[in-house]
Amino acid sequence: MKILGIETSCDETGIAIYDTNEGLLAHELYSQVKLHADYGGVVPELASRDHVRKIVPLVKRTIAAAKLHSDDIDGIAYTRGPGLVGALLVGSSVGRSLAYAWDIPAVGVHHMEGHLLAPMLDDNPPDFPFIALLVSGGHSMIVDVQGIGQYEVLGESLDDAAGEAFDKTAKLLGLDYPGGPLLAKLAEKGEAGHYQFPRPMTSRPGLDMSFSGLKTFAANTISACDGSEQAKANIAFAFQEAVVDTLLIKCQRALKQTKQKRLVIAGGVSANKQLRASLQDLSKRKGIEVYYPAFEYCTDNGAMIAYAGAQRLMAGERIGLNAKAMPRWPLDSLSAI
Ligand code: KG4
Ligand code: ZN
Repeated sequence: MKILGIETSCDETGIAIYDTNEGLLAHELYSQVKLHADYGGVVPELASRDHVRKIVPLVKRTIAAAKLHSDDIDGIAYTRGPGLVGALLVGSSVGRSLAYAWDIPAVGVHHMEGHLLAPMLDDNPPDFPFIALLVSGGHSMIVDVQGIGQYEVLGESLDDAAGEAFDKTAKLLGLDYPGGPLLAKLAEKGEAGHYQFPRPMTSRPGLDMSFSGLKTFAANTISACDGSEQAKANIAFAFQEAVVDTLLIKCQRALKQTKQKRLVIAGGVSANKQLRASLQDLSKRKGIEVYYPAFEYCTDNGAMIAYAGAQRLMAGERIGLNAKAMPRWPLDSLSAI
């Protein structure tokens, strides 16, 4: 089956074609980052309008890049939620309409299931079961994954997501949106030992997380520093170290609690090199297998939606013409396949 994947949950239009026999055939991405940069964050109405402008040409380009014709597509997978409702509606309308016009089945994919399964696009995918650390701009959670659709959320952020904390702290440091990768770059110039940030919610048991306090701690630290580039780099270093350390502590705890030996990290923050290095170190020390997606499949993309949708379509799942977009959609409400 050749599945056309459509991702429009936030500020990226991602289109891909996944073949259940041959793997990924093509994927194209249009990022709206420049459009939102002036506002310091995503403006939902502008995001929806830009998806409308970009989606159809991108579908055409992806089909051409895969050297296919629209007749060759056997199914459509589009992001049904969670995300910005206006943005989701664009992908849902186009996805559902194309399936109707081409007389092929469609399925609505959970965006976080897409992230969670993104490492399956790799040549060396993880086996089930595993613990997944999902860290994106909108969500941070630790999930016990027994199989596709068999998800138990063991812990999640009670306030800001990890990516959101990166973005907000980056803004305080005067960096552009989205600041996560820029903060990580600035941290490379930072030195250890100048600032000590807290490791929130690590001294008590449990797997829930909280990152908004780190942002407040950063705000106070920035206003008390001398404002030099080196001081900012040192703050970026200490902030990143605290987030990474906190995530590492929580992952270790989840692995111990569930006696699992496999860890998958996914979502935008899984592109963070420091986080990857720390988990690699954990892997060596404790004999844990660690998996993460290729950099291009860490942040939002159509390939992960095409892959997740392909699994559900192959299992016979279908979405009707009257299905609503789901701006809020708990991951553990999905059905097992
Ligand atoms: O998964 P994603 O593309 O979108 C959501 O589903 O939210 O994640 C985007 C988030 C942003 O907050 C961005 O700053 C963060 O991932 N991010 C990073 C890095 N690359 C992306 N955060 C830290 N370090 C990075 N290298
Ligand atoms: Zn995402």
